[in-house]
Amino acid sequence: MMRTPVLAANWKMHKTVAEATAFTAIFLPKVADVTDAEIVLAPPLTALTAVTVACRSTRVAAAAQNVYWKRHGAFTGEVSAAMLQDAGASYVIIGHSERRQFFREDDTIVNRKLRASIDVGLIPIVCIGETLDQREAHETHTVLARQVGSGLNGLTTAEVGALIIAYEPVWAIGTGRTATPDQAQDAHYHIRECLSAATSAEAASRCRLIYGGSVKPENASALSAQPDVDGALVGGASLDPQSFAAIVAHSRPGQ
Ligand code: PGA
Repeated sequence: MMRTPVLAANWKMHKTVAEATAFTAIFLPKVADVTDAEIVLAPPLTALTAVTVACRSTRVAAAAQNVYWKRHGAFTGEVSAAMLQDAGASYVIIGHSERRQFFREDDTIVNRKLRASIDVGLIPIVCIGETLDQREAHETHTVLARQVGSGLNGLTTAEVGALIIAYEPVWAIGTGRTATPDQAQDAHYHIRECLSAATSAEAASRCRLIYGGSVKPENASALSAQPDVDGALVGGASLDPQSFAAIVAHSRPGQ
């Protein structure tokens, strides 16, 4: 099964509108000839529309970093899936470990956000991954199975096939410590097995599984060469247009 790689930049709480526009001015020409990968920029919400406008008539798409599952109502500070789409997002990151850690998101919340996003046609990038304690206690597979099982509960086979799942070991995020290509492949293979058991082998083989956690230009190609690694979700190294363009270049098939 040929899966189109996904290279997604998670800018987290970085960049003003002017900084985001300066990034796209340098980055977009560098990836103008990339037709064999999906490139996604996830700016903070305040720069989402500016990034969307800059990416118009390119193949680069915009993502939101979060979503609320209700359609509308008295939920001060929250933004619905339809509103994100209205602002230009075509993807949305859900369940990032920073949201799980600092904002107490659990798999039930992830599941609600997933349902709401799919219902309006946003493509979710769902983040899962174990902590260092869990890895050292040999619980990685159990944790991933639980996050997949509860987080994706109720999704149809077709919806699972269209999903992007980011495996982001918490100990590798922002630490400079990357999972080895073998560790990433082992986790991705296990996630695909879980998806296959929960839905169908066909849906599991269509779902894109991307790796996140200290991805840099230097390690991108070894990670993406793994058979079950279909791209990357990049934090720190995506803030610089040259560095993210290099990651894109190194992560494409046959690179
Ligand atoms: P990092 O972040 O690349 O800075 O480790 C990845 C992420 O949090 O998505």
